[in-house]
Amino acid sequence: MKRIAKVLCMSIALAGMGTSLLQAQDRKGVSVEHLGTNNTLIRINEHSKYLLLPIQDNGEEATVNIVANGKQERSFSARLAKTRVDYTVPLDLTPYKGKEVVLNIISSQSRATVREAQQDACWRNFVLADTFNTANREKFRPAFHHTPLYGWMNDPNGMVYKDGVWHLCYQWNPYGSKWQNMTWGHSTSTDLIHWQHHNPVLLPDGLGAIFSGSSAIDHNNSAGFGNDAIVALYTSAGASQMQSLAYSTDGGYSFTTYPGNPIVTLETEARDPNMFWNEQTKQWNMVLAHALEKEMLFFTSPDLKNWTLQSRFGKGIGAQDGVWECPDLFELPVSGTDEKKWVLLCNINPGGPFGGSATQYFIGDFDGKKFTADTDANGNIATKWMDYGKDHYASVSWSDAPNGRRTTIAWMSNWQYAAEVPTLQYRSANTLPRDMGVFKDTDGQYYLSSTPSPELDALRGKLAHDQRKLAIGTKENSIALPSSNDGICEIVMDIDARKNQKVYITLSNKVKEKVVMTYDVDGETLSFDRTQSGIINFSQDFASVTVAPTHTHDGKLSLRIFIDRSSIEIFEKDGRLAMTNLVFPNSPYSVISFKCDGGKAKINNLKVYSINENSK
Ligand code: FRU
Repeated sequence: MKRIAKVLCMSIALAGMGTSLLQAQDRKGVSVEHLGTNNTLIRINEHSKYLLLPIQDNGEEATVNIVANGKQERSFSARLAKTRVDYTVPLDLTPYKGKEVVLNIISSQSRATVREAQQDACWRNFVLADTFNTANREKFRPAFHHTPLYGWMNDPNGMVYKDGVWHLCYQWNPYGSKWQNMTWGHSTSTDLIHWQHHNPVLLPDGLGAIFSGSSAIDHNNSAGFGNDAIVALYTSAGASQMQSLAYSTDGGYSFTTYPGNPIVTLETEARDPNMFWNEQTKQWNMVLAHALEKEMLFFTSPDLKNWTLQSRFGKGIGAQDGVWECPDLFELPVSGTDEKKWVLLCNINPGGPFGGSATQYFIGDFDGKKFTADTDANGNIATKWMDYGKDHYASVSWSDAPNGRRTTIAWMSNWQYAAEVPTLQYRSANTLPRDMGVFKDTDGQYYLSSTPSPELDALRGKLAHDQRKLAIGTKENSIALPSSNDGICEIVMDIDARKNQKVYITLSNKVKEKVVMTYDVDGETLSFDRTQSGIINFSQDFASVTVAPTHTHDGKLSLRIFIDRSSIEIFEKDGRLAMTNLVFPNSPYSVISFKCDGGKAKINNLKVYSINENSK
């Protein structure tokens, strides 16, 4: 109270001098002092756990400097509300308990006068609170996909499996639902369905924001942080991008930043280090995205701290229409053989097959230092895509997954419109986790398969529809989808069609919105048309048709389709096809219908599973 009294006195004194430069307001333990057209101090006069910051989703960014007992602690950026408060985000005040806390706020655009600056909606809406309500407010929030409780999320990071726990970190903005303040958020799961949310593990520091990277268990204590320490490598993104290290000795719940950071610097933009222990060469490998050069760099290290550049791969190869980001490199057995191949994941943005972001991959060999991609019969390196939807990006795998599994997860969005999708409390979910495999197709080429991770079978609840045979013709045949839980479900079917046929599978709702999937038997493709799927007008890039090769050649296609409020993921039963697309229907899809464009086709073993209520 003493502090407020003093501020008020000063303001009166200044007003008396014929100036209104300083204004003060007291709002339950918070006082606001306008110093100028773009500079305001928020003074916290009572201790609470949180200060709730009023955010306008598309507002201008302000820099918030936290000053405790006169010392600058850290700063971040927030779109403080100008004309309306869309939501609030919590600033955790516990680290400053017992100290005088002042937020020194610099707005990005000066208002013409202090009086004008004072009108901004935010100043009346800073609130002290001991709790922050994270209950879901979004009708499009998926029920069985990983989402952050609030705020923006992009790439999955630092994924490691340890002691039965799947750790999933992610690019997170704790202060708003658009990209900023990159921090590693942290969630864990024991079944890849239910996610627990924890405190973030890496916060922006003196070297910059915390961009994407990977974690692995240092089983041999090669770095000297202790046996089985989890070591994380990530990009420190400040004025330049450099690679840094942090480690955890408590199983991945808190990390210590290595004082010798950065551990790798280059003169050009490089990011998203992905490392693994190479049992064959008995050293560490790291792949780094040389983003603007559109290539990947390969390093080796004995101890995770000292790295030697060994080779590079990618210049002029594969899709080159965007920056190369988020690599991953792993070896997999080829299905049905005793052969093994190396897979290099190489996320690219833009330049995906349907615009914007996508995951391309290369299959070949890796000798511990150099990756060599396989060529086709004409000596070319084909461009291959891991998922043929528009919303699968930054896919990388868990290290140390059990039973030799290679399990991946991807950010389920696209940089073209991720910041505009119709949600506010949070933005972006991750895809369902998938287990990777390699298969050889009839063209003699190796391809990557993606099957839903086996844990997801536990999602299956009541069988809402079960039909051994459904004959379809040119007239539409319709079946109701489960209505509980906004119609979230898994649909399974074996399509049996003939030459010259197209089979149409349509999901529709009561307001005539629809998604049309077309199996083109001759073209050996499956397409997904979301041009009339619901809300599409938030971006001109959203309405689209995506097309995948089926990699089946006998007029048969067996599918698993997962619908989760705002996402549809389609898998061929052996993972030869994966397609992930977002949809924002105004009302849940309530009907699935089938028809074909000539003769007859069959849908066999059609099953519609409701998703278990308790899997939410
Ligand atoms: C990919 C990416 C990464 C970077 C991160 C920043 O989506 O651009 O290359 O590390 O996002 O959030």
